[in-house]
Amino acid sequence: MTSEIKKKSYSLSTKLLHWLIAGHMIGLIVSGWWIVDLSFYSSWYYYAPSLHKSFGAVVFLIGLLLLLNKFRKRPPTLAGHTNLEKLASKFAHFLLFASVLTIPISGYIFTTFTGQNVSIFNTFNIPAVFVTSEKIRDLAIEFHIYASYGIAGVVFVHAGGALKHHFLDKDRTLRRMLW
Ligand code: HEM
Ligand code: HEM
Repeated sequence: MTSEIKKKSYSLSTKLLHWLIAGHMIGLIVSGWWIVDLSFYSSWYYYAPSLHKSFGAVVFLIGLLLLLNKFRKRPPTLAGHTNLEKLASKFAHFLLFASVLTIPISGYIFTTFTGQNVSIFNTFNIPAVFVTSEKIRDLAIEFHIYASYGIAGVVFVHAGGALKHHFLDKDRTLRRMLW
């Protein structure tokens, strides 16, 4: 038996990073949707956007680490997926990787466009590097909104696919990301 066949699960670090990023992403989509409707008189009015930005920066960092793991560690092999399923999951993973990197960058661009730094958990600042035009800011905002709600749909299909493999096909697709 080759070592490739023996490898039944993702590495521990990939599993930890994956579930961390999944929780953060869901929290950020929900919190983003919530903060845009906050009243000026809400006690969360200043605090919630600041937390949203800080956790958004954390997602970017976890995304980089997960991507690094993808190149460093061989994924587990799994028989039984059709070619269409393999293609669909590759495409979904590509979109998920792209979103965890580009959505935070777009947030960074539109919040720093006047030269204002991003404070991370009130402990340190990410400096404003690209002081841009209002046109770029507007594009970044549009991207932030459409990409976030678009990726919510991809996450839904991605999670649904994993659950379908687990409960209907009864294969190791979900288990290899769990244990
Ligand atoms: C919410 C945001 C989520 C993001 C950003 C995300 C992202 C990703 C990425 C990038 C991969 C590919 C990992 C790699 O190839 O190294 C992946 C794989 C996987 N994810 Fe997620 N995921 C999310 C939520 C979920 C949820 C809710 C579930 C399950 C209910 C799930 C189950 C899985 C499974 C089982 C795999 C492995 C699939 C396979 O080996 O083909 N993910 N995810
Ligand atoms: C993957 C990470 C992120 C996700 C999924 C996300 C998602 C969202 C969503 C869904 C909204 C609501 C959009 C709307 O309905 O108008 C939003 C708003 C916002 N996001 Fe993010 N975000 C992320 C990261 C960031 C980062 C890193 C920053 C800043 C550095 C940021 C700054 C903001 C701000 C300031 C708003 C409010 C915009 C407004 O008032 O119109 N976000 N985000």
